Amino acid sequence: MSGSRKVHIKSFGCQMNVYDSHRMADTLAPEGFDETAAIEGADLVILNTCHIREKAADKVYSELGRLRVLKDEAASEGRRVLVAVAGCVAQAEGKEIIHRAKGVDLVVGPQSYHRLPDLIARAELGETVIDTEFPAEDKFDVLKAPSRQAIRARGVTAFVTVQEGCDKFCTFCVVPYTRGAESSRPVAGIIAEVERLADAGVREVTLIGQNVNAYHGEGPDGRPWTLGRLLHRLAEVPGIARLRYTTSHPGDMEESLIAAHRDLPALMPFLHLPVQSGSDRMLAAMNRRHTRADYLAIIARVRDARPDIAFTSDFIVGFPGEAEDDFRATLSLVDEVGYASAFTFKYSARPGTPAAELAEQVPDEVKSERLQRLQGAVDRHYAAFRASCVGRTFEVLFERAGRHPGQVVGRSPYLLPVQVAAPASMIGEIAAVKITGVGPNSLFGALANERVRAGPVPADAGG
Ligand code: 5AD
Ligand code: SF4
Repeated sequence: MSGSRKVHIKSFGCQMNVYDSHRMADTLAPEGFDETAAIEGADLVILNTCHIREKAADKVYSELGRLRVLKDEAASEGRRVLVAVAGCVAQAEGKEIIHRAKGVDLVVGPQSYHRLPDLIARAELGETVIDTEFPAEDKFDVLKAPSRQAIRARGVTAFVTVQEGCDKFCTFCVVPYTRGAESSRPVAGIIAEVERLADAGVREVTLIGQNVNAYHGEGPDGRPWTLGRLLHRLAEVPGIARLRYTTSHPGDMEESLIAAHRDLPALMPFLHLPVQSGSDRMLAAMNRRHTRADYLAIIARVRDARPDIAFTSDFIVGFPGEAEDDFRATLSLVDEVGYASAFTFKYSARPGTPAAELAEQVPDEVKSERLQRLQGAVDRHYAAFRASCVGRTFEVLFERAGRHPGQVVGRSPYLLPVQVAAPASMIGEIAAVKITGVGPNSLFGALANERVRAGPVPADAGG
């Protein structure tokens, strides 16, 4: 259905927000809202926000300042623009947002997105609406599925949320408060969603959740399924050639998941397994529930199951009480694991989390200096990893046209984009590519002759 109103959704933060933004757009489409990439001219602007670090949350307020100007300009032309704040800042700050920023019509937490049509209707009538509840009903039962057209517009790779929230309570982290207790979607709904994506041409699915490997959704047999079992089942969906999952906690790398890395060719040899620190003293203070040795033992088991696997991680420097020796333990862990890449963060005190109350906060200059040293180590490994790809032949999933004519950008098993001279008609196909060179954040490759697993292209593909 083509709508008469336009919605612009801006996502901050993690992949789950990207997924949620899609689902919000899908839910608003039958209400007559067309999604637009341009903020100017939108009747409804939704900021899907992130609260993980202070910087991320601050971005929202500067964006709201800009939106207020846009809203006033539109009002002077007799046009009404509704502004909604969604995501984790909405959940964490609720009505404070209305006090801090003028011009916000709606604040909606992540568990209430299925109620958006009703909430927007109320805001349109002039009410300032706040919904940050954790409702009893399952939003996934109510959220609308994407149209075939929307799936196609989003490309041949897709995210699917299988789990939300977290019960781990790492002492630095807001997730258990903003996204709530760990909860897993039932298997049947996930299979249906993946089948629908595959049917519209999606070839690669990344299962997402804040603690995705804690997955224990109800299976068709009425019993809880592990993530490993779910992956086995999804690998059987016709058209799905590749599976990934993120983000995982080391403590939840259960046996069936490690076995999936050994037994499932569709499961890509790539694992983001955040460790946060290499120091046992810091890991304990962070309430990570694992030691450095536990973590290394898990890495070894996964490597044993899938020798060509690449690991990435998240690290926090300057957690309260972190001494130079603790930090050096993190540096040595980076070398010991040999990560393909990693995200590095300065510790950011988050209101309401236990670590924010700790006395020994690390000065910002020290955090900056450690961040730089850690980033240097990670960069070295990242460069070495890219260099190690040269000369190898990878199966590449062709995703989109490249910057130059005749070039297509694909995705290697290790997520790194690969730029290849190939016809655009290959988008959606998987083909063997020999890696010939490296760029700062990508690889260059040439089509090897043999085409592998060039899957069925749906009848209305292309265009
Ligand atoms: N400060 C800095 N980094 C944080 N992360 C989570 N909370 C904080 C915080 N308070 C990082 C962790 C996590 C990633 C998503 O964000 O490394 O794995
Ligand atoms: Fe946050 Fe991840 Fe720890 Fe859960 S496991 S509290 S999401 S850092």
